[in-house]
Formats: sequence, C-alpha cells, structure tokens
Amino acid sequence: MSSHTRPSFVKFLFIFFLSHVLSISGESDNYIIYMDMSFMPKIYVDHHSWYLATVRSVLHSSSQARTTTTISPSSLSNSKLIYSYTHAIQGFSAHLSPSELETIKNSPGYVSSIRDLPVKPDTTHSSQFLGLAADSGAWPASNYGEDVIIGLIDTGVWPESQSFHDDGMTGIPSRWKGECEVGTQFNASMCNKKLIGARYFNKGLTAKNPNLTISINSTRDTEGHGTHTSSTAAGNYVEGASFFGYAPGTARGMAPRARVAMYKALWSEGAFMSDIIAAVDRAILDGVDVLSLSLGLDVTALHLDPIAIATFAAVEKGIFVSTSAGNEGPSDATLHNGTPWVITVAAGDMDRDYGGVITLGDQVQVKGTSLFPGNPSLSKTPMVFTDLCNDSMALNRLGNKIVVCEDTSNILGDQVDNVQAANVSGGIFITNNSDIESFIETQLPAIFVDPKNGEIIKDYIRKASGQPEAVMEFRQTIIGGNRPAPRVTSYSSRGPSPSCPAILKPDILAPGSLVLAAWPENSPTSFVGSKFLYSNFNLLSGTSMSCPHVAGMAALLRAAQPEWSPAAIRSAIMTTSYSTDNTNSPIGDLGDNQPATPLAVGAGHINPNKALDPGLVYDATTEDYTNLLCALNYTAKQIQTITRSSSTKCSSPSLDLNYPSFIFLLEGNTPAAQTAREFHRTVTNVGVGMSSYTASVTPMKGFKVSIEPEKLVFKERYEKLSYKLTLEGPTTKMSDTVAWGYLSWTDSAGKYQVRSPIVATTFPK
Ligand SMILES: *[C@@H]1O[C@H](CO)[C@@H](O)[C@H](O)[C@H]1NC(C)=O
Ligand SMILES: *[C@@H]1O[C@H](CO)[C@@H](O)[C@H](O)[C@H]1NC(C)=O
Ligand SMILES: *[C@@H]1O[C@H](CO)[C@@H](O)[C@H](O)[C@H]1NC(C)=O
Ligand SMILES: *[C@@H]1O[C@H](CO)[C@@H](O)[C@H](O)[C@H]1NC(C)=O
Ligand SMILES: *[C@@H]1O[C@H](CO)[C@@H](O)[C@H](O)[C@H]1NC(C)=O
Ligand SMILES: *[C@@H]1O[C@H](CO)[C@@H](O)[C@H](O)[C@H]1NC(C)=O
Ligand SMILES: *[C@@H]1O[C@H](CO)[C@@H](O)[C@H](O)[C@H]1NC(C)=O
Repeated sequence: MSSHTRPSFVKFLFIFFLSHVLSISGESDNYIIYMDMSFMPKIYVDHHSWYLATVRSVLHSSSQARTTTTISPSSLSNSKLIYSYTHAIQGFSAHLSPSELETIKNSPGYVSSIRDLPVKPDTTHSSQFLGLAADSGAWPASNYGEDVIIGLIDTGVWPESQSFHDDGMTGIPSRWKGECEVGTQFNASMCNKKLIGARYFNKGLTAKNPNLTISINSTRDTEGHGTHTSSTAAGNYVEGASFFGYAPGTARGMAPRARVAMYKALWSEGAFMSDIIAAVDRAILDGVDVLSLSLGLDVTALHLDPIAIATFAAVEKGIFVSTSAGNEGPSDATLHNGTPWVITVAAGDMDRDYGGVITLGDQVQVKGTSLFPGNPSLSKTPMVFTDLCNDSMALNRLGNKIVVCEDTSNILGDQVDNVQAANVSGGIFITNNSDIESFIETQLPAIFVDPKNGEIIKDYIRKASGQPEAVMEFRQTIIGGNRPAPRVTSYSSRGPSPSCPAILKPDILAPGSLVLAAWPENSPTSFVGSKFLYSNFNLLSGTSMSCPHVAGMAALLRAAQPEWSPAAIRSAIMTTSYSTDNTNSPIGDLGDNQPATPLAVGAGHINPNKALDPGLVYDATTEDYTNLLCALNYTAKQIQTITRSSSTKCSSPSLDLNYPSFIFLLEGNTPAAQTAREFHRTVTNVGVGMSSYTASVTPMKGFKVSIEPEKLVFKERYEKLSYKLTLEGPTTKMSDTVAWGYLSWTDSAGKYQVRSPIVATTFPK
C-alpha cells in the first residue's frame, strides 16, 4: 500500500471536518461569483456596494415571489454576501439558494460562478543540507532575506514560539500595510518585527455551517501546520532545537531575516475556498512579496480553480507564489497547483537518518533507524524472533519481550500495526524496504534494521545460550549516512499537471520529509504508552513542508535581486537545480526505486547558492500566460475569469510559454505516431555582460533533439536572445510512458550551466 495510508503518516494529515461536500439540490450553498467590473454602473461608489446591490436585487426578486416574507432584504443581503473581493478575483462570495444563484447569473456583469469548495493542507537539518552558510552564498548575499515579507495562507501561528522572536530584526518596512488582528487568545502585542502580520478568515466556513462554533477564533494555530510551515520559510534562529533528541541543532528558516505574515484560512473545523481567496486578497493589499500555499484543490481546469485564479492576480502584482504539488503519489498525473504562473514544489528526503542502537546480549551492537519519541532507552529485555509477526494472538501472549519481525513480502505496515497493538516491550523490524519514513515514529520502542544487520540479530538469537536479550537506545542522528539522498518521496504527487499538461510540472524538488520546525507547545506531537507527548519542534512530512522551503528561497532571491520578476526567480531556482544525489547517481524515486523522471522531480533539487547567479533566465509576463490560455482554447469568459480583464483579446495565442522546461505530449508510443514539436524560448542574460553560451543536450532514448542556433553570443547584460528546440520522435517504440533528457546552456568561461528538463510522454492530454 502507498505510504500515506500508514497510521504514523496519518498523524501528519489534517483531518478536517468537511461538511456537506455534496450539496443536495435545493439547499443553499456558498458560491464564488466572478464579475466584470466594466459593467459596474456609475452610481456605485465602489465594487463592494455594487456586489451588495447585486445580492440585494436577487433577494428582492425572491421576496416578491414569496410575498409572505417579512425579513428586510437589506439586512439579509449583508448576511448573504460573505466577502467582496478586490485584488485576488473580481467578484464576491455569497450564500445562495439555487434559484438565487440563477437570478445572479442574469445580473449585469455576471461572468461565471463556482460552488465554494473544501480545501486541505498538503501535510502528511534542512539548511545545512542545502549548503547555506554564513560566510558565502545566498545567505550573506541576500542579508538572510532581510525585509522580504513572506505571506502564508495556513492554519495560523503560535506567536510565542521562539522561531518568531525578533532578536536581530530591523524595523518593519514602512510599505507594509498588514495588521495584527485581535481575537481569541491573540492580541496585537503578539506580533513583532519577525511576525509582522496576523489575520484570520472564516466567514465562508461559518456561512456554510451556521451552527459551528470556532474554538479559537483568531490567528492562533490550534493545529501546528502553519507554525511549522512559517518557521520553515522564515523562522529566526533557535538554539538547542530538536524533536525528543532527534535532529538536534540550531533551527532556522530558509530566510532567517525575512518577515512572516500569517493569514489563517485553514481551521480545525474546516477550510473553504472563499476564505482562502479572502486571505490572498488581503495579502496582496497588505504588500507581501512572497506567498506560500501548502494546500491545493484537485480541480482539472484552471478557470475552475480559485487558487489558480487568485494567484494569477498575485503574480501580476509581482508576488512570487510557491505551492505544494500534493501528497497523492506515486501515481502519475496526481498533482495539483500545476498552474503555469506559480512554482509547484515536490517533496524529497534528506541525508539525515534517525537512529537507534541495539546492544545484543553478547555485546555486539547493531544500528538501525528509529524515531521513537519516548524514553531514550529500553533496558535489558528478553528477545524473541517472531518471523512474519502476522499472528496477533501469538504476539499478545508474549508480554515483556522485544519481538523481532522479518519483512519478507512487503508487509512492514501490518507488522508495525500488529506489534503496536500487542502488549509487548519493543520491536525490531528487519526490512529491505527503503521507504520506511512513514513507519519509524512508533508508539513503542522500535528499531528498523536492514537484512544484513537482521542476520546478525537472528544469528545471535539462534545461538544464544539461555535467554536472548537486548538493550535498545534511541535519539541518535546520523547526518550524511551512506544512503543516497535526496530522493523523491513516494507520496509526492506526480505530473503531468491535470489542469495544464502543456507545462511540465512539478517544477522543483525541495526537502519535505521529516522536516524539523516550530510547533505549538500545547499540540501533541506524538502518542506513546497511551500518553500524548509535547515538543516545541516537530518533524513533519509532506509537500506542505517542501513548499515553504522554496518560498524562503524566493525571499533570499528577492532580497538579492529585487528587480527580478516572479518568473525570473522561478527560472533561477529551476535552471540551477541539481539532478544527482550524494552518490553521484541520478536522483532516485522512492516510489519505484528507479531514477526519478522530471514528472516526479521537476528540474531537480533546489540549490539556493547557485540560484543567486543563474547566468540566464527565462522570463515571462502575465500577457504570456494569457497567450497560453488562448492557445489552450479557453473561452473568452473563462480567460476573463482568470485575468479579471474583459479587454483580453486572443491576438497572439501561443503554446510557447517562455518556461525553463519542455514537455511534448505524444499521440502514441511507436514510430508510426512520430511527430515533431518546435519550442521557442528567449533567455535574458543576467550574468556577466559579454558572454557566449553553447547548447548541449543529453541523449534522449528514441528522440532526436536539435537546438538552433547552438550558440548564443551576448554583447551586454540584460540582452535577450532566442533559440528553437525541435523534438522528433519516437524513432523506436517507447518502452515506457516517459522519455527525458536535459538541455544545458554553458558559457565559455565555464561559470554557468543553465539546465532545463525535456520530457516526451504518452500520458493523455
Ligand atoms: C496581550 O496578551 C499578553 C498575554 O496574555 C499580555 O501579557 C499582554 O498584556 C496583552 N497585551 C495587550 C495590549 O492587551
Ligand atoms: C442550527 O441550529 C438551529 C437552531 O438550533 C436549528 O434549527 C438548525 O436546524 C441547525 N442547522 C443545522 C444545519 O444544523
Ligand atoms: C470571530 O471574531 C470576529 C471578530 O471579532 C467576529 O466578527 C466573528 O463573528 C467571530 N466568529 C465566530 C464564529 O465566532
Ligand atoms: C502468516 O503468513 C503465513 C505466510 O503467508 C501464513 O502461512 C500464515 O498462515 C499466516 N498466519 C496467520 C496467523 O495469519
Ligand atoms: C500489558 O503488560 C503489562 C506487563 O507486562 C501488564 O501490567 C498490563 O496489564 C498489560 N496490559 C494489557 C492491556 O494487557
Ligand atoms: C534487498 O534489496 C537489494 C536491492 O534491491 C537486493 O539486491 C537484495 O537481494 C534484497 N535483500 C533481501 C534480503 O531481500
Ligand atoms: C485549439 O483549437 C484549434 C482550432 O480548433 C486546434 O487546431 C488546436 O489543436 C486546439 N488546441 C488545443 C491545445 O487543444
């Protein structure tokens, strides 16, 4: 079974109480209504009063139909209108009956509407692993992201966490328009020079569920997710951080001097699109530079995805948007946020192992993997080999024993469940499974060992005279162990993007597995021996955790290169990424133990120091995104919903979005289906003035790739030059659904390598 069904992983998945996902016809529901501002009659002072009047007119007509009503339409319309939006979308949200919605559809200026949808967050030693250092590279060059404001749409924040202390922070930038909203257990003095904004949004949630009580009606985080993601992006330095002794060290975010603005729209009581749009709307107005959205909606058309629509507006305002790919891997075409104007982040693991040591009765020591958060050791305890551990009754009778299970047929999950359910003292699991991350935080003392070490243990048990016994010790951290890292996690969602397969997604891989970051002190992190355990730091996994790494990295780039567009920052992040692991092999995929394809890993793994100086960038404007939407045959209304402009004319539709990657959607996998596709790209020289770059392409099985011209000679900085990439094939029958290679532009001085993945795939369009 895929890992995300494992109990210890479920801990990381927020279970929201999603109510009435399917609304029975006839029932009122929340709707997001897109409007055309050019229809607003001059009599209204602003869009808000126009939207209010639109909702009011609907109530007029329905109250005329039902003359018995005595409720004043004006007070009702105030309660029917949930939000009127300003920046993120053109329109409003309202709680409407089906007939009221029909009336709205006939109102002047109506463009389109969608039913409000529930949303879930993508949760399921990082800066050192990324090569960030105080003396050189991206940290000093960006002054650690100073003055860049990262907005997060999440579950709130725990303001007392040390990660949000403002030691060493300078005054708040005067351009900042945000606020620290007062609410339950949250007052304005809880913000400071690090946490500069805290707002909360739940009108959509409460309109949907009028009888709901919100336990903590403020930006205070009752879940932990938002505290974790925001401290991952921009947490301040905290010495002596660890998770029960694991991953000890100084915790800090990717951009330790950047500011945090939290927009709470995900509640333990539920989460809805209407609130998320309101949060994005406010973040744009407040003046964030970067947005981090560790959440998504599995919607297959861009014009029906409010996150895609709201982020279009953000990008248009120059805000860089980082989003999570989702945790639905390893199946293909499972990702969300596969939107051309944002960066879509996959999750990888790190070169850190959480260890345990077993000392056998004969004093031989065996190392393994463990994240047991309970007592640091288990004293000398009798040990018994219990083989498959599939007989619960037999396990239950063992009592005070360490049971040793051997996973010979990929049943590790069941074994861990059986042993945890049995009243035994500890477990040792012998397994060849490399994807054990979701099992290792156990509720009873347990260590996972490989078959080689397993033989040593079995051998000892077999030969022990008298009673075999062992001591178990936990809380060991092994950095840079001898296994390959990074690898794409099995749960990370895969491309192609269902909403826009024409653009290769995900874009990039960042650390997502067992990321240590801040946690509310009153939310339990673990469950051991029928007790909850608490910690100020927690290790979490998911693309929710990789997304804020990229948001923090973008903050560093924004600080160092303030003139770069969101597309230029994305390009720098992608083209400087690396595609080999710490053993110099291609980055692997934990989903199938094969080299990861770009549909899992994107361009490669983030490399912050390199991204600061990429040489060339692929820039793009919102006009380019519009031209792509035109070429994808979206209708004028659909495009208007996204661009918020009725003047959009599809004068130059083009599939050639100036993107730093290439994907060719094939008609078939045999030479009979052979076709050629041309891609046109323009690169901007952001490196040294005079320079020349030469193209090289890695062999791509069954495909012919040609580049024209093969050499680009720049005379000055910021000069733009174009080239054409032609992909022909397949020339032989493809053995797989994906073929891939890389195009690299290398400068003659050997300083820069600007690398892009090229993918040909038979996945359906
Ligand atoms: C805010 O709350 C804290 C902690 O409860 C309290 O110490 C402080 O006085 C409050 N500040 C204001 C301005 O109410
Ligand atoms: C909400 O509470 C009111 C009054 O108690 C009740 O009449 C109504 O049915 C409740 N609505 C829902 C959706 O539970
Ligand atoms: C939450 O607080 C806001 C601001 O005080 C208030 O307007 C709103 O009604 C509250 N919501 C709930 C569900 O209590
Ligand atoms: C455990 O698995 C083995 C091998 O599949 C099987 O022979 C045995 O009957 C199973 N035992 C129980 C109690 O299910
Ligand atoms: C578990 O075992 C311990 C001692 O081995 C015993 O005291 C306890 O009652 C047992 N609990 C259950 C639920 O069987
Ligand atoms: C473990 O996996 C390796 C590599 O996949 C394989 O060579 C080896 O035979 C496996 N060992 C066992 C005991 O399954
Ligand atoms: C868009 O429509 C045109 C004309 O019907 C067609 O040739 C083209 O293939 C379509 N493009 C896509 C991406 O579906």
